[in-house]
Amino acid sequence: MKQEEKYQLLQQKSEQALLGGGIKRIEAQHGKGKLTARERVELLMDEGTFEEIGMFVTHRCTDFGLENELYLGDGVVTGYGNINGRLVYVFSQDFTVFGGSLSETHAEKICKIMDMAMKTGSPLIGLNDSGGARIQEGVVSLGGYADIFYKNVKASGVIPQISAILGPCAGGAVYSPAITDFTLMVENTSYMFVTGPNVVKTVTHEEVSSEELGGAHTHASKSGVTHFTAKNELECLDMIKRMLQYIPQNCEDQAPVFPYQTDGNELREKLNTLLPSNPNQPYDIRDLIGEITDVDSFFEVHKEYAENIVVGFAFLAGRSIGIVANQPAFLAGVLDINSSVKAARFTRFCDAFNIPLLVLVDVPGFLPGTDQEWNGIIRHGSKLLYALSEATVPKITLITRKAYGGAYDVMNSKHIGADFNFAWPSAEIAVMGPKGAAEIIFKEEIKNAANPAEKLEEKVAEYTETFANPYRAAARGFIDEVISPEVSRIKLIKAFKVLENKVVVMPKRKHGNIPL
Ligand code: HXC
Repeated sequence: MKQEEKYQLLQQKSEQALLGGGIKRIEAQHGKGKLTARERVELLMDEGTFEEIGMFVTHRCTDFGLENELYLGDGVVTGYGNINGRLVYVFSQDFTVFGGSLSETHAEKICKIMDMAMKTGSPLIGLNDSGGARIQEGVVSLGGYADIFYKNVKASGVIPQISAILGPCAGGAVYSPAITDFTLMVENTSYMFVTGPNVVKTVTHEEVSSEELGGAHTHASKSGVTHFTAKNELECLDMIKRMLQYIPQNCEDQAPVFPYQTDGNELREKLNTLLPSNPNQPYDIRDLIGEITDVDSFFEVHKEYAENIVVGFAFLAGRSIGIVANQPAFLAGVLDINSSVKAARFTRFCDAFNIPLLVLVDVPGFLPGTDQEWNGIIRHGSKLLYALSEATVPKITLITRKAYGGAYDVMNSKHIGADFNFAWPSAEIAVMGPKGAAEIIFKEEIKNAANPAEKLEEKVAEYTETFANPYRAAARGFIDEVISPEVSRIKLIKAFKVLENKVVVMPKRKHGNIPL
């Protein structure tokens, strides 16, 4: 072959690879409102930075006539490039080739870039769109999945791993995204389930659509499997880019700090009137977060799930922080099973990647009842206690109002390692609310009183006077400073700054045993 012909062959092969499963299947993909694997990668990466690896890989299967059906790249585009100028590795499954199904070689390609991401300490992004295990390959394909799962686990806490679900994701394949740090889904075009509607119907006789069983809305609000939902693929890819701004490259890197311009006025007077005059009235904790953090910087995670707790990333004077906040506007901000698990998982992500934590407290306690007890609120609630206790990143607490009972301890109290504990003058830090407390400890006195209702009122006032304030806790040093709301941002900026060089040495052990 002449030199010129050799170059032509390369050109031909590259062009063939770029077509994936062919024009017809690309059109079908577009017809479903979906982008192709390569279009997604181009949109995700900074322009012109993507470099593909393994473009000419083909499968090795010779069963069912597959030896005659070879597609260059074998259904997955893999490589590296930049997002916001930072190196990331990506794989993007190509639904036009055997429905994006995972063969032995397809898995090898993914594993190869996972290894490279680990070696270079770079985030890994998976764009999933796959019919699952390549059926013609049998167990070889299952092995490929397991290889990926194993590497996902090894990479957990070392490099950030993000999974976008942009089509089907079924069977055991769902467990790779589930192990990664964040999952994103797109409304109406992506779904995840262990078994699809047909199997569900056969086994449980339930009639359910794919969307209802495992669509974006279902996993965002009911199961909590997805952390984000996007209206379309473009929005989904933009969310990934935005999220990466808050996250460092790997566990040895520091959380991002961007240069911050200030007009010198960090007072937030609006905060003085944020709380309703009646302590039992709700308010939206997002209003507080918006005032405290840099303008429009709050990036909420798990927005539709367990809404009684709000978690997400934000910038504070340019510094990336993670926020865990009770939400008084939903179930009075009570802690229950789902909110505990949600906050614990987010806390552990932040701690793994050196992102300092701000915990905002307004919590009436843990949710009582048989439903919670029988489903294990003790087991699940302790996850949050465990996660906040083990976190060694800078940890700051601000109590705005209620901090009652065990929830006071759990929500980043001084006792479990918080570095700074602030409280507003409106804080109520006690074993329980004044009414419940008075009814128990003054039971006899109230019962025997000439006017029990009046007596109860008197005792509630007495308990309120004694305990429904931050000063008992401050007297003990459990609260470092009682601050007026308007200076909250100033205090927090300073506190995170002085904690910049915090070092904690943990006792030697293999790993802890978080109550799973
Ligand atoms: C090989 C597959 C495939 C698969 C789809 N295709 N899934 N090829 N292995 N798993 C091929 C189809 O033959 C078709 O080829 C093309 O991909 C597009 O598929 P369609 O069915 O035409 O597309 P659509 O109607 O959009 O349906 C998509 C689908 C459906 C819902 C994903 O294809 C489907 O149900 N596939 C099987 C899913 C499945 O049961 N997978 C195994 C799950 S078990 P042509 O040539 O016509 O374009 C599993 C275990 C993992 O994954 C365990 C890990 C531990």
